[in-house]
Amino acid sequence: MTQIYMQTFGCQMNVADSNGLAHQAWSMGCTFVADPSLADIVILNTCAIREKAETRVYGRLGQLKVFKEARPDSKLLVCGCLAEKDREIMRSKAPWVDALLGPRDYRQFKQLLDRWGVATDSPPAGAIFTMPSAEDDPGQDLHQAYAHLRALVNITRGCEKFCTYCIVPYTRGPLESIDPEEIESQIRREVKAGAKEIMLLGQNVNSYLHGSGLDFAGLLRRIKSIEGVDRLTFLTSHPKDFDRCVVDALAELPNAAPRMHLPMQSGSNAVLEKMARLYTIEEYLEKVAYFRERLAGWALTTDIIVGYPTETEADFEKTLDVVSAGTFEQAFIFAYSPRAGTPAATMTPQVPQAEKIRRLQAVNAAQNEATRRFHESFIGDTVRVLTQGPSKKDAARMAGKTGHNVTVIYPRDERTEHRPFVDVAIDQAYNWGLSGIVA
Ligand code: SAH
Ligand code: SF4
Ligand code: F3S
Repeated sequence: MTQIYMQTFGCQMNVADSNGLAHQAWSMGCTFVADPSLADIVILNTCAIREKAETRVYGRLGQLKVFKEARPDSKLLVCGCLAEKDREIMRSKAPWVDALLGPRDYRQFKQLLDRWGVATDSPPAGAIFTMPSAEDDPGQDLHQAYAHLRALVNITRGCEKFCTYCIVPYTRGPLESIDPEEIESQIRREVKAGAKEIMLLGQNVNSYLHGSGLDFAGLLRRIKSIEGVDRLTFLTSHPKDFDRCVVDALAELPNAAPRMHLPMQSGSNAVLEKMARLYTIEEYLEKVAYFRERLAGWALTTDIIVGYPTETEADFEKTLDVVSAGTFEQAFIFAYSPRAGTPAATMTPQVPQAEKIRRLQAVNAAQNEATRRFHESFIGDTVRVLTQGPSKKDAARMAGKTGHNVTVIYPRDERTEHRPFVDVAIDQAYNWGLSGIVA
């Protein structure tokens, strides 16, 4: 029987792809192992969003070379965004890689396994599919036994926004919207398999447009009647296409998780324009105001890039001001990382690395205060969490996520271990989340 080791880097899109690949391999009789030295096939699903993501993948490839040498018959497949971006370079940088598949090549996956001698075409006898743990999955970080509680459902593929800093349109190709029937049947399948939370995925879910004229708001209305979805959420929204219609549709949903991710990127119009984001900060804040009005109590999260080429101190302070005003419950803040082939990589002047780090730390400090205030607002409340599994740091405790996506830690026992949802009375707040006792 062929054993596969699979490791996933990058965003939820990659996690969803890994899931799909794992299902295909399983349907051909493969099983999964957690130790690469036991694997006949090693699969790395990679990310190229920033230089750091690439460095980590190449570091891992260096380690895997040793395993390859110990088992010369084993195969190493690199897929995902870095496989696409570094298609040529990788052949010289890591010649021990046997095959590359970019995110648009996964239809060739089964053929490849076939070529590598994976002979059967039925699932391993007596086995139940469990997703191989996605080891590097910052958004989810799920324990394998609980992974099925949250399902990722693609609604679009690719992106054609071409924000000037971003590699994704080059690695994932143009926008495609998936048939609503296919989306609905996948949601039903996931619910049947035990999913409680459905996350609709796309680089820009608001650009969903199906042939028949169905847009994202229409899609939300269409799937709202599917039974058994306790929490419905989605990632990511683009502020240009996110509009009042979407907010209104969300307000109608009985099961929408009260959270929304709307990447601002910068508080400066000059920078937003150079990024080709297609909105001004005033438009962004106006959309946020309508969102706050209609969806009171929701958590707003964002992505921010500091040190974009040409960003001045005054530009940066505009970003800092929006964050300091407590606009966001949580923010993911990145230092700009030049991506070869994108327009921003050759823009001048580039901001020196030390200055990027200073700006990053300043925005982080401002956001941490807002996040902590948000977390403190839950002290004394009882919150319902969706179980994630035993806490990574302390196996005597469990971790779960609130509807706002805040991490909660609570004691592990018979009751809390086996229930998908647990009510926790919150007594402590931290920057990273909350802790409490079972209510
Ligand atoms: N499609 C999503 C984001 C995908 S990438 C969107 O449009 O918002 C996730 C985040 O990574 C982006 O929001 C951006 O903040 C950051 N990012 C993308 N390219 C980057 C780069 N070259 N340097 C630093 N951060 C980057
Ligand atoms: Fe990248 Fe912009 Fe597309 Fe998001 S919308 S994936 S940031 S190009
Ligand atoms: Fe990375 Fe590709 Fe996602 S570059 S962030 S894995 S779309």
